[in-house]
Amino acid sequence: MQRRTVLVRFIQGIHALMAATLAFVVGGAVVAPSFTRRPRAWLPAAVLTDLEEGTPKQIAVEVKRADGATEAIDRRVVYVVRSGDSVRVLDSTCTHLGCRTRFDAESRRIECPCHGGMYDAAGRVIGGPPPSPLQTLPARIEDGRVFVEI
Ligand code: FES
Repeated sequence: MQRRTVLVRFIQGIHALMAATLAFVVGGAVVAPSFTRRPRAWLPAAVLTDLEEGTPKQIAVEVKRADGATEAIDRRVVYVVRSGDSVRVLDSTCTHLGCRTRFDAESRRIECPCHGGMYDAAGRVIGGPPPSPLQTLPARIEDGRVFVEI
């Protein structure tokens, strides 16, 4: 093997090592957060007696999470719908492309302002492009207070 060939292979090896290191660092920074499971928590969302039967009440729930050395607060908007002594909690995020929906008291529909998606008070799709119902979140009632797991 010629001296020149050995040198070329050595330089190619260094380039491959640099590329692998770069891919590891950048890939880890981009992909790793997707696989990190955020701890779930039960958060207070409403008082049962404050809820009107069958009418979605829009509530913003604050979720604290560690963000490096500090703490960040994420806001999740949910609908709490009472049905007798039980409740259903729906995520307000449209299942089409993720816009925030809102409940229209007149039409009694949950509407998405982005592309005209419509859901009934139970979160079922009744019009527009959403492919599936609003996501139902785990909920429980304790001493008349509604908690949602986020
Ligand atoms: Fe809601 Fe498109 S994002 S209908």
